[in-house]
Amino acid sequence: MRPGRKALIEQVLPELSIPLDMPPGTLQPASLFSGPVAETWLEIGFGSGEHLVAQARANPDTGFLGCEPFVSGVAALLAHLPIEDRARTRILADDARLLLDALAPASIGRAFLLFPDPWPKRRHAKRRFVQPHTLDQLARVMRPGSRLRFASDHPVCQHWTLRQVLDHPQFEWTARRPGDFLAPPEDWHGTRYETRSAPGSVSPLFLEFARTGMAVSPSGH
Ligand SMILES: C[S@@+](CC[C@H](N)C(=O)[O-])C[C@H]1O[C@@H](n2cnc3c(N)ncnc32)[C@H](O)[C@@H]1O
Repeated sequence: MRPGRKALIEQVLPELSIPLDMPPGTLQPASLFSGPVAETWLEIGFGSGEHLVAQARANPDTGFLGCEPFVSGVAALLAHLPIEDRARTRILADDARLLLDALAPASIGRAFLLFPDPWPKRRHAKRRFVQPHTLDQLARVMRPGSRLRFASDHPVCQHWTLRQVLDHPQFEWTARRPGDFLAPPEDWHGTRYETRSAPGSVSPLFLEFARTGMAVSPSGH
């Protein structure tokens, strides 16, 4: 019998939870996993976890950190994550910004921010995840040369994010032609939110940003 939501949260989550009790900026993801990983990828706001689970399946040498404050989403991820993939998956059931503060520089090899809450009203703009400060945090923890993947089907969120990231000196948009951002990328794995048609939504955009700077080999893994 598959464990229920309560058992997953009470028994499995503590084993996979990311501790945040170290000095800021010192957390090496490799220290969290129970086996070796080639590098570590981060998903911010994984919702019910379909994307993280699929990426973990497709990338067996990679460690995964996922952040999601919505406890039902965390339980859904734990229900779908195969037991054999738990050793290289760690979860923060909280605000991703806490993890970004904790992580060591250049410790993340790839990051995903997929269909974040759009907060379309102008007076709520400060609540949007992408802000100059969160981009600074991401730039600090992402290895130079690594990629940030963003997707959204909300026009305000699309424009806001593109503007913020293009204004940031440590990221560049990698698209060369419309097909690069209008069509899902080759290694795309669908998310639950993507399949909903929320009011005000438009066709999704898939934006890939490179952390600028010299590409270096993964550190701290
Ligand atoms: C619209 S949902 C999309 C979920 C998922 N990425 C998908 O595509 O199905 C946005 C998610 O981001 C989460 N979220 C919002 N703010 C966050 C934050 N500061 N840190 C981590 N997750 C956050 C929410 O709880 C929610 O599950």
